[in-house]
Amino acid sequence: MTVLPTALDPRGPEYAAHREAMLAKLAELDAEHAKALAGGGEKYVERHRKRGKLLARERIELLLDPDSPFLELSPLAAWGSDYPVGASIVTGIGVVEGVECLITANDPTVRGGASNPWTLRKALRANEIAYANRLPCISLVESGGADLPSQKEIFIPGGALFRDLTRLSAAGIPTIAVVFGNSTAGGAYVPGMSDHTVMIKERSKVFLGGPPLVRMATGEESDDESLGGAEMHARVSGLADHYAVDEADAIHRARRIVARLNHRKAHPDPAPAEPPKYDPDELLGIVPGDLKIPFDPREVIARIVDGSDFDEFKPLYGPSLTTGWASLHGYPVGILANAQGVLFSAESQKAAQFIQLANQRDIPLVFLHNTTGYMVGKEYEQGGIIKHGAMMINAVSNSKVPHLSVLMGASYGAGHYGMCGRAYDPRFLFAWPSAKSAVMGPQQLAGVLSIVARASAAAKGRPYDDEGDAALRAMVEQQIESESLPMFLSGRLYDDGVIDPRDTRTVLGLCLSAIHTAPVEGARGGFGVFRM
Ligand code: COA
Repeated sequence: MTVLPTALDPRGPEYAAHREAMLAKLAELDAEHAKALAGGGEKYVERHRKRGKLLARERIELLLDPDSPFLELSPLAAWGSDYPVGASIVTGIGVVEGVECLITANDPTVRGGASNPWTLRKALRANEIAYANRLPCISLVESGGADLPSQKEIFIPGGALFRDLTRLSAAGIPTIAVVFGNSTAGGAYVPGMSDHTVMIKERSKVFLGGPPLVRMATGEESDDESLGGAEMHARVSGLADHYAVDEADAIHRARRIVARLNHRKAHPDPAPAEPPKYDPDELLGIVPGDLKIPFDPREVIARIVDGSDFDEFKPLYGPSLTTGWASLHGYPVGILANAQGVLFSAESQKAAQFIQLANQRDIPLVFLHNTTGYMVGKEYEQGGIIKHGAMMINAVSNSKVPHLSVLMGASYGAGHYGMCGRAYDPRFLFAWPSAKSAVMGPQQLAGVLSIVARASAAAKGRPYDDEGDAALRAMVEQQIESESLPMFLSGRLYDDGVIDPRDTRTVLGLCLSAIHTAPVEGARGGFGVFRM
């Protein structure tokens, strides 16, 4: 029997405490997501509606196939920054005419939809996802262009947005721009670089410079319509392929474009799969509020994979990392999950071997994080922990099968790297509200700083201020703690979103489906030199 058993007791006090802690974090998360949904706030939303316009998310909803899901990405972008949560753009994956597409929509209620540094990062991440997974890209445009006060952060790197569109096109990945309003200056290159463009009567404004700028530059008197209206672009300049009479018509035309793309997935959809044997609601009660307490990741695996069926690989060797094979919504996956937090030499070597096997078999990998990093100490250094950790990082870095990472609990130090952290290009990375990620734990970091400061004072022959040290430690601990939290990290685009643990199977299933639009092929060689 390979169906996982469970030792979770949903009636026990531990389960109740874990569930309560998780629900409290989810309530905080909901409050932050609500900020993104509110866009620029009531005043600007009201004004937008009075102009007879649809909101960004309403445009997306009309574009998608009825009752199909939308996997919104990075909804907390810009959290903790000077800019509104959500970064004035909505991005995500949805199904249009049966085709999974990457959709971006400017939110014109937030500072005229202008792009700030976080908007840019979020849009570039969306392009990256479209490229890696060969998803057609649909841009729903209405933007005041660059957020002018922050132009120094975005003007030069922002050129990558237009470069990406034409590289997608060159790779045979379709790009479609639907212009709902302003698309001026650099923004004009979104329709300019797209394969297909739709513009809307008396709404679209696509010009390199508006009437005031033209007057300043050449003295010419002009107006919006003759400079960049939909009718002009449809009849005269030829920039518009489709002339829509209103927003609904434009969205309909975008759907028809997708229907005719002849965009085929590299892998057919699998047959419907058996759900897990255990209730996914129980995912709320697994991770302890205190991450120092370990938990068995098999309890998580049992609630996300098809039929809770898991063939464990090397269960007796390196038991602090659980590895094994399963399927998720019908897609084969290899899973690496931290069991006891610390990664030792055996766990690292087991991971390296497992990753190679997945590459030989073209099987995507799922990394479930709860690690405090690689083991330190004389015994372990002498046992070669560096070279064994390096084997694992080498395998992760050069693996060519798609990787999906989920931060369930701790994700500290080089353990974050070995488990395919952000810098290791997982196709998607999500965090649970219980996750924490940093170079090390806040207490450890503050303690290390204090030891270094004490040694430095001693070396200079100066007395050490113990009272000041305690205050400094407390301050550093608090700072690192707040910078380790998922909302902070999501704000900086270090993940693709913070998700409700109960949605993990659905989110991973949507990602796996999108991933299989592109061919899934492992590396047959091409790893770096493995230090043995
Ligand atoms: N940078 C920074 N802030 C901007 C902005 C930009 N590019 N575009 C608009 N905003 C701000 C406005 O100052 C205004 O702020 P406030 O409400 O605090 O006063 C808010 O966003 C809404 O702008 P508003 O002009 O009232 O909205 P609108 O819907 O009537 O018009 C635009 C939107 C985009 C047509 C208009 O704001 C505009 O022309 N902006 C400049 C466009 C431009 O030339 N960009 C150059 C890009 S390189």
